[in-house]
Amino acid sequence: MQMKECVFIDGVRTANARAHAEKGWFKNLKPDQTLAAVLKALFERNSKVKPEDIGALFVGTANPSGLQNDVARLTWLSHGFPERVPTQTVSNQCPSGMAATIDAARAIISGEEDIMIAAGVEDMEKVPMGANMGFPDAFFTRYNMLEIPMGNTAEKVAKLYDIARADMENMAIYSHKKAYAATVAGKFKNEIVPVMGKKEDGTEFLVTKDQWVRETLDAAQMATMRTPFQADGRVTAATSSPLTAGAAALLLMSREKADQLGLSYTYKYKLGVQEGNDPTLMGMGPELAIKKIFKKTGLGPKDIGAYEINEAFAAQALACIRETGIDKANAPFDKVNLWGGAIALGHPLGESGARVLVTLMNVMKTECPNEKYGIATLCGGFGNGAGVLIEKV
Ligand SMILES: CC(C)(COP(=O)(O)OP(=O)(O)OC[C@H]1O[C@@H](n2cnc3c(N)ncnc32)[C@H](O)[C@@H]1OP(=O)(O)O)[C@@H](O)C(=O)NCCC(=O)NCCS
Repeated sequence: MQMKECVFIDGVRTANARAHAEKGWFKNLKPDQTLAAVLKALFERNSKVKPEDIGALFVGTANPSGLQNDVARLTWLSHGFPERVPTQTVSNQCPSGMAATIDAARAIISGEEDIMIAAGVEDMEKVPMGANMGFPDAFFTRYNMLEIPMGNTAEKVAKLYDIARADMENMAIYSHKKAYAATVAGKFKNEIVPVMGKKEDGTEFLVTKDQWVRETLDAAQMATMRTPFQADGRVTAATSSPLTAGAAALLLMSREKADQLGLSYTYKYKLGVQEGNDPTLMGMGPELAIKKIFKKTGLGPKDIGAYEINEAFAAQALACIRETGIDKANAPFDKVNLWGGAIALGHPLGESGARVLVTLMNVMKTECPNEKYGIATLCGGFGNGAGVLIEKV
């Protein structure tokens, strides 16, 4: 078998809704329903590709228990898709959707398959973070139990890399400002698949925008917010990604197959990297992923047109930007998260790895269409960073 090029044909996502039993716009939807919505949208938008043509569906989810139990297979079958198509649920915490994409791209590049769907889904209200979670005894011999929860790792990164609370709040302000501007300008229209959700009062409505995005943030009020993870800490709800629900999916194809079908494409999958690190500093994953991409390709910050760095917390995103020197030390950034990041857009754990790739391609097509390279990257609980380099073809 010959090695092939892998191109991105399309990418879609639902809006990201608050994961909240009363206030969340997706309180009426289950993870299989948001995932099915993006899968169906991919087939509707790309009518030359039929479900039976797919080599496999890979779906990332951070917590594959409860309603997210083998969410790839159970969603595929429950929503009437053909039994013949194999599926796989992929799980390595937050990078799960990106891991699914990397796996799918590798299947195409190796020549094993020609058409793949990679997706990510999470509903942090129906399947709460940490639910049904156990740990090997020896894990807490090696690591301090108090340094493992996600918020605590953000506090540790903030102290170690000397990230001031005011800098994190400034980053949050710009994350919302850019996300709001992009939303109002209709820039997410190409990626957001409308789904029926429910307002707080129970009224049904078509959800077409991300629920957490705020028009303005009050800097003075933010500075008084409590620090939920540590009594004398720096990280607040305003500088953390919120608990969120949503799904995203990408259609990947060998370039050869896409040409045969007469399908157009703009970007190809150039390189995927994964890199492990100290779980108590898990947020530094993007630093390692970006440096690994540069080392493997010989590219540097000047070669990259845009970055999507998942803002699990402002502390870790800022530390990664500073340690790699890819942008200014403080927001507003020139190349990072040009349409806002997870602090504003939300972070449905397993979804985000696919979402940042979908958004990266739309950002590049719109904001810097002549740039050749873009990078999407995110950190992951227990120390699993991931990154993907895309190249304009
Ligand atoms: C930070 C965290 C603990 C806060 O959770 P919470 O206490 O349930 O709080 P909420 O997110 O509902 O926000 C609390 C309140 O602050 C408000 N708030 C959030 N950001 C705000 C801001 N920038 N300005 C003003 N108010 C804000 C919310 O609107 C909410 O008030 P409301 O219910 O009246 O609307 C939670 O969001 C969290 O754990 N985030 C990190 C998730 C995570 O670890 N992801 C994985 C990363 S690797």
